Amino acid sequence: MSDKLIVFDTTLRDGEQSPGASMTHEEKVRIAKQLEKLRVDVIEAGFAAASNGDFDSVRAIGLAIKDSTVCSLARANDRDIARAGEALRGANSARIHTFIATSALHMEKKLRMTPDQVFEQARLAVRFARQYTDNIEFSPEDGSRSDPDFLCRVLEAVIAEGATTINVADTVGYAVPEQYGAFIRNLRERIPNSDKAVWSVHCHDDLGLAVANSLAGIKIGGARQVECTINALGERAGNCSLEEVVMAVKTRKDYFGLEVGIDTAQIMPASRLVSGITGFVVQPNKAIVGANAFAHASGIHQDGVLKARQTYEIMRAEDVGWAANKIVLGKLSGRNAFKQRLQELGIELDSEQAVNEAFARFKDLADRKSEIFDEDIHALVSGEQVEAGEGAYRFVALAQRSETGERPHARVVFSENGKEVAAEADGNGPVDATVNAIESHVHSDAELLLFSVNAITTGTESQGEVTMRLSRAGRIVNGVGADPDIVVASAKAYLSALNKLQSRVEKVHAQGI
Ligand code: KIV
Ligand code: ZN
Repeated sequence: MSDKLIVFDTTLRDGEQSPGASMTHEEKVRIAKQLEKLRVDVIEAGFAAASNGDFDSVRAIGLAIKDSTVCSLARANDRDIARAGEALRGANSARIHTFIATSALHMEKKLRMTPDQVFEQARLAVRFARQYTDNIEFSPEDGSRSDPDFLCRVLEAVIAEGATTINVADTVGYAVPEQYGAFIRNLRERIPNSDKAVWSVHCHDDLGLAVANSLAGIKIGGARQVECTINALGERAGNCSLEEVVMAVKTRKDYFGLEVGIDTAQIMPASRLVSGITGFVVQPNKAIVGANAFAHASGIHQDGVLKARQTYEIMRAEDVGWAANKIVLGKLSGRNAFKQRLQELGIELDSEQAVNEAFARFKDLADRKSEIFDEDIHALVSGEQVEAGEGAYRFVALAQRSETGERPHARVVFSENGKEVAAEADGNGPVDATVNAIESHVHSDAELLLFSVNAITTGTESQGEVTMRLSRAGRIVNGVGADPDIVVASAKAYLSALNKLQSRVEKVHAQGI
């Protein structure tokens, strides 16, 4: 059995299925490039049949990525598989990932199909996918709750048809480690052609066990591919966290005995990029990428670490990219230096005019903030892509007054489809007044589900990054805005969320048949 663990990242597909985590085309390409830098083996770029936008993103990522395999999800039907195959045309290395539910519950209640029909559809789907590529992954959805006898029948058949990866999905996060590991081992032992495929784990975190289950699937079950996401983003409670599973396998190589190809120094940049784009803030005590993950607060620990760092540190912060923030640019940096930094960060703006506009915003920021970090540049460009590219609303200016004992007041100027409007209102605080002012004109009818503020870098000079999560008619979106003034950042985030609410794209949910 191979001693290499294949890392399959599904931030752009399963991660994007988190309510509010939708990303623009440009943001997806940017994340894909960071995943390539991180050296993930497979990038699941999306679900090409979900919408034309998803098709275009899979296609663009397939053409942009050279060092990782690019994959598209497809339900087990000819139309989805053909869309995936077309979107991946031209990719250096492509994979089609097809799936169908195999648990009795899903087959009867969701698919309304008999086991024999599911068996046949799975087989035919893999056969059809072979027209496009030899690299085919098959997932039995709700696999961990499926009858092992039936799974053996289906999986043997799809491997015979040419599936090269078998991914046992714990779709609802129901599994527990030893049982899940033994379940996979049992399948591998019973299926005669199981050695013709790489076995994979795909775990959700509903019971907080996604990483533990994935590790058990690897150690006990013999899986050699792990499906995971940056910051554990994903449906409901999320997926297996890439940073945690990778660092567990690397740090405990004595136990797992496996190689992973990940450039761990790119973990923090990837984590920051994904959280900045989606507005899903990383909790401070999150393993590996949380702000406290390497902070030795207690005196006893500090003393130990100073004497010998291994006393309390099992990993080095710098190995996962926690190097001190680098000042990359400043007030005196010119357009060329700025453009080069954009390139190094994998940020592609589609015209010289877009570069000029971004440079003007950079200069404006550098006037107000002496040190500009990579995170600032990502934030500067991310906000703008949504505001300028898709939205009807764009922030222009804000004046607000707040004083102890006085009710705060805000006047916001923003453009609506290119026409400037000014709106004023009071509120409980400056942010409330700002949102009330915008709403006094927009009347969006949206409900604010979440308002969070996060410092992008360190120090009080840092830009505040604000996330506003809005919901309307069952649709949930996150708007993100950044500015050294957190009330301005809030206005930008709110307008960005309104823009996303407006740009409704009809999208099929892969698992919501
Ligand atoms: O959780 C799941 O079952 C999935 C499949 C599409 C693999 O995401
Ligand atoms: Zn999933």
